[in-house]
Amino acid sequence: MVTRVPDRRTLDPVETASIDELRTLQLSRLKWSVAHAYDNVPPYHAKCEQAGVTPADLGSLDDLAKFPFTLKDDLRSHYPFGWFAVPRDQVVRVHASSGTTGKPTVVGYTRRDIDMWAEVCARSIRASGGQPGDRIHVAYGYGLFTGGLGAHYGAERLGAMVIPVSGGMTPRQVQLICDFEPEIIMCTPTYMLNIADEFERQGLDAAAASLRIGIFGAEPWGEPMRQEIESRCGLDAVDIYGLSEVIGPGVANECIETKDGPTVWEDHFYPEVIDPVTGAVLPDGELGELVFTSLTKEALPVIRYRTRDLTRLLPGTARPMRRLEKITGRDDDMLIIRGVNVFPTQIEEQVLKQPEFAPHYQLRVTRQGALDELAVHVERRPGVGDSAAAGAANRLRKAIKDFVGVSVLVRAGAPGDVPRSEGKAVRVVDERPKR
Ligand code: DLL
Repeated sequence: MVTRVPDRRTLDPVETASIDELRTLQLSRLKWSVAHAYDNVPPYHAKCEQAGVTPADLGSLDDLAKFPFTLKDDLRSHYPFGWFAVPRDQVVRVHASSGTTGKPTVVGYTRRDIDMWAEVCARSIRASGGQPGDRIHVAYGYGLFTGGLGAHYGAERLGAMVIPVSGGMTPRQVQLICDFEPEIIMCTPTYMLNIADEFERQGLDAAAASLRIGIFGAEPWGEPMRQEIESRCGLDAVDIYGLSEVIGPGVANECIETKDGPTVWEDHFYPEVIDPVTGAVLPDGELGELVFTSLTKEALPVIRYRTRDLTRLLPGTARPMRRLEKITGRDDDMLIIRGVNVFPTQIEEQVLKQPEFAPHYQLRVTRQGALDELAVHVERRPGVGDSAAAGAANRLRKAIKDFVGVSVLVRAGAPGDVPRSEGKAVRVVDERPKR
């Protein structure tokens, strides 16, 4: 179902620029950005000195490969503001990404950075089919997380009417959708499922509500999840990608006309895919770790930031800019269970194939003696009886063994048993003793 396609006359001119024009723009911006980080971020300067490179070594886009990476740990070890490249009085906003352990990563924005962010988020909403005058229900969290405010500024920049609900209070989300009749919702895909459940709990049909487009991201979600959300909620589900260190949401966004992976807004964020072990740049099309260099960011320039997200760069389709293959995992989400690499989204794909189970799941890893055990916690859909659930649990266990290659225990609970999220879902609970 594609209900709306943007009028090409409303696109930013750079969205339809030729590849040659784009590469020329990228090179001049890249030279500025690398020099800006080198001159104004002392710890990045030190990294360059150690690697024996200076901004003068950057004659072509390929020369970027000579420059050192920036890691999340680099930003953390200069917590909170040590990576900022402008005087503190030019930083008009900070956000932070919640580390599961230790200190968060703090990111800063100048007024121009906020402006650029609003522009790429407005572009993302437009690529998703949004238009001026739409009502946009923002249920990403507002606060230090970049989701809420990023979406909010983008929606305003587009000329839409923003409904800044933030996450949580799910029954009220349903009420506001019914009363304010937004065309668009922005939240995590798992929170959309949570909202869809709440519609059902209230005896309402989510597909009959006003929503036509959902712009979902901040966590991995596969094609089966897209189909589940689209059919239950009667909308086009479009993927938005981003990360705090690079700007927040709006680094890349799917185009509704193709829904074939997020288009990278390459005029502001230069992508590379590298071999995560050797660090070598891989040709487009090969699977590896995604790396971004900011081209225009002032307060927190990042040069070759290692995202830990695994994907490949694909040629442009709806726009000349390159796309990301839909991201279904990060290297730090990967579990190694008795020697088998397992990504939660691989399990998700199998869970969603069992009609007896709701699309909610959580993985629990424990250690029995010397062996790791993986338990998949799912729940029956309402109305599914014990024996049907037991049959489905057996089929799921077999499918995971056949398609993912790992033996698991399946625990099929009652409806509502799997913990719900209001933002990013917690997919893995690791109860193994720390070494
Ligand atoms: O999650 C920014 C964001 C907010 C993106 C709202 C989209 C919508 P962080 O909290 O820093 O920022 O987390 C960034 O989330 O490296 C990916 O691992 C994951 N991620 C974000 N978007 C997607 C997506 C925000 N569309 C980390 N698909 C990233 C898969 C995603 N993973």
